[in-house]
Formats: sequence, structure tokens, C-alpha cells
Amino acid sequence: MSKKIASARISTKSSKLLQELNNSLPFDKVLYREDIEGSRAHAYMLCEQGIISKEDYEQIESGLYEILGEVESGIFKLDGDDEDIHMAIEVRLTEKVGDAGKRLHTARSRNDQVALDFRLYVQNSTKNISELLLENIETLVNVAEKNADTILPGMTHLQHAQPINFGYHMLAYASMFKRDYERFMSSFERNNYSPIGCAALAGTPHPINRQTTSDKLGFNAPTLNCLDTVSDRDFALEILFNISTMMMHMSRLSEELILWSSAEFKWITLSDRHATGSSIMPQKKNPDIPELLRGKTGRVNGNLVALLTVMKGLPLAYNKDMQEDKEGVFDSVRTAILSLQVLEEMIADMRVNKEAMERACMVGHLSATDLADYLVKEKGLPFRDAYHITGNVVNLAEEKGLDISELSLAELQSIDARIGEGVVALLDNRASMNARQSEGGTATVRTLEQVESLKAWLGKEK
Ligand code: ARG
Repeated sequence: MSKKIASARISTKSSKLLQELNNSLPFDKVLYREDIEGSRAHAYMLCEQGIISKEDYEQIESGLYEILGEVESGIFKLDGDDEDIHMAIEVRLTEKVGDAGKRLHTARSRNDQVALDFRLYVQNSTKNISELLLENIETLVNVAEKNADTILPGMTHLQHAQPINFGYHMLAYASMFKRDYERFMSSFERNNYSPIGCAALAGTPHPINRQTTSDKLGFNAPTLNCLDTVSDRDFALEILFNISTMMMHMSRLSEELILWSSAEFKWITLSDRHATGSSIMPQKKNPDIPELLRGKTGRVNGNLVALLTVMKGLPLAYNKDMQEDKEGVFDSVRTAILSLQVLEEMIADMRVNKEAMERACMVGHLSATDLADYLVKEKGLPFRDAYHITGNVVNLAEEKGLDISELSLAELQSIDARIGEGVVALLDNRASMNARQSEGGTATVRTLEQVESLKAWLGKEK
């Protein structure tokens, strides 16, 4: 069908294989809403500028409105042999309203049309993902508020390092998601410019008004240069990169959830709603969800690299290679939305095993740095000397099969007589956590301050 209106120069019917390779309708049909919205704005502007008559405009408008209903109710299935969504809708419109439908494509090309549809899709998706990010941040903040006194070993190199609280740990992820949110929003702003009216590559001799379509579609302004606009897929690359970075954060959190729900840790328990069994081992409860979130990070990274590779050698302006821009973006957007929805539920439902976390703090002499800091602050020792004395205290604790926080004052003083009375209390793991009161630190008061700050920020964004 599309042959008749889009291939004036091509005489023979195209090969089946060409159609299979060439047609994007099977996947770009998801853009039907954006395509109709764009066409309505374009037709409105054509009419306002006197390029088409009011009668033609009204027919186009009501025809497009009907088509929207037909697609949404499943009457119009978008499974024909039209080349793409743009042709499919134009053909249908022309079937419905005749010549008026044929006038819709005045002063427009599929090159600016696809740039518009796809950009609208990316902008809408950016909004949807951003909202889900806010919900995830809110959930993490709630978990953090309840666990600002829940101590656990903070790690470096996956080795016990210093006591922190679980809320503080959750807020680290909330901070990552906040940056992700800000990254999505700044991409939204940067890309909020209207491509329609650029036509094939050079603009058009028709007296169009790009400001009108830009306003109608909710953009800030028309883009500056038409040649750039029909060649540009930066907006698609940005959403892919933003999703990859967000999924990388989600993957790190997932990795920790998997680790923490293992028998060796038992720091958290995922709800049964978010765990699966094994087909052979009846006792098993597997963390498939965080594993899948971690795994899906691979495919969204693949989508980013695929589009970067498609774009890298293309001369200006439109090249059919660019049709390869869509499936990866659709896939990454779908993946991001589902992943964020699942993550939020899983975090809200997980059980935090406070005792197990606190018990784990008794391994690894987590408060050793506090002894060194004490000798520096209270006894005026150079840090390196304090560090060596503390090393000897740790060796003593090891010999006795104790944690440094379990040594008596006498035992501590057997290593260095300058160690005074207050030290035993100082080496308590919770005291150690609460001693880290510097700005952005883990102390419960500081953690709660961070909770408040994120809540205030959420209040502004929501
Ligand atoms: N289906 C095409 C795409 O997704 C639309 C643009 C086609 N333009 C063209 N000149 N063939 O990129």
C-alpha cells in the first residue's frame, strides 16, 4: 500500500526480503501516539499559515482522531505492509479523508517527522523514568530513616572496614539515584527543542511557522539548524546513557542484596513475593529479581554501544542506518521502567536483620581506627605512631580470639600505658559509628540530617 504514495520513482514491486529488511512498522508502531500528535500540530500550523484550507485541516484533525481510537481499540492493527508508522497512518488517513490526507505531508519529510516522533517518545519516557526514580529515592529514604541506628560493617575491598549504619548505606544509593534523576532532567531540558518543519534536510519554501508547532507540542523552541536536526540522535544516546548509568547503580545495589541475602551474611531477607524456588532443591529461595536487575544492565549497556556504533560514521543528513536507533531505545526504556518498579517494591518489602548486621560488626576490629584517632587527639601522638600502637593492640586481640572492642582496659594498657580509661567505651562499634560526625558522615545524627535533606528535596521535585 505504501508503495503508491511513498515511492514515485520505484516502478517494480519491492522484494519480500527488501520489505523485511526495510520495514520498521513492526517495531516503530509503538510511536503511533507521537506520530498522530505531531501530525495534528503540523496540520494546525499549515492551516494557520494558510498553506492548507480550514476544511482540509478539519478533515485531517477528525481523521487523525478517529485513527487514534482505531489503534487504541485494536481495530487498526498496524500490521500491514506499510514501510513504517508514518506511512501507515498517512495511508489510513488518506483512505478516510481523501485529498485532505494527501495534503498533510506538505512542508514535511519523514526525516523531520521521525526525528519529532522519536524525540517526543524519548522526552515522555524520560519523564516516566524520572518519576519512578523519585519513588525509589523516597523508599530508600524511608528505609534509611528506620535504620539510622542499625550498625553493620562498612567495607572496602569487600573486607570489614569501619562500622556504619544501614540507613547511611541506603542513602548512598538514594544519592546515586538523585544524580540519575538530575541527569535525566538535564537531558530533558537540553533536548526539549522541536525538530518538525526541518523537512528533508534543508528547510522548506512553504511559509511555515515552527514556533507554532513547537508551542503546540510543548517544546521550548524550534531547533536551530535543520541539517543538524534531521541527523541528530544525541537525545536517544542520552537516554541510553542515562539508563545505563542508572542501571549500573541498580546493579551494584542488586549485587549487595544478593550477597546480603546469602547464608553467609543473612543481613536481609527478601520477601517471598520477590524470591523464587529451585526446580530440584525444595529448600531453596533464590534472589532472582536482583540477579535479573544486575543482568539486565548488560543489555542496556549493549543498546548504548550499538547506537553509538551506528552513528559514528554517518555523513549528514538522514541515512537509513538511523532506523536502527529505535529498538534498543524501546528495549532500554521498557527495561528501565520495569526494573525501577520491581526494585521499589523489593526494597519496601525486604526485612532488615539488625541483629545479624550488628553481630557481623564483632569481626574485623572495626573500631581500630578510633583507637589511633584517640591517641592522636587526646595524647598528642603523631598519627603514624598511633597507627603502630593500634596494630599491636589488634594483634593482641587476635591472639586472644577477641574483637578489639572486647579488650579490657588492662589489656589495652599492656600495649601502651598512655591508653586511658575512656577508651573502652570509645571502641564500642556503635560509639565508633556515632563518632563520625563530620559533614556527610555516618553518625546517626548526620544520617538523619541527610534523610531530612533528601526529604526536603523530594518535596520540591514531586
Ligand atoms: N522508518 C524511518 C526511520 O525510522 C523513517 C524515516 C524514513 N526516511 C526516509 N527518508 N526513508 O528512520
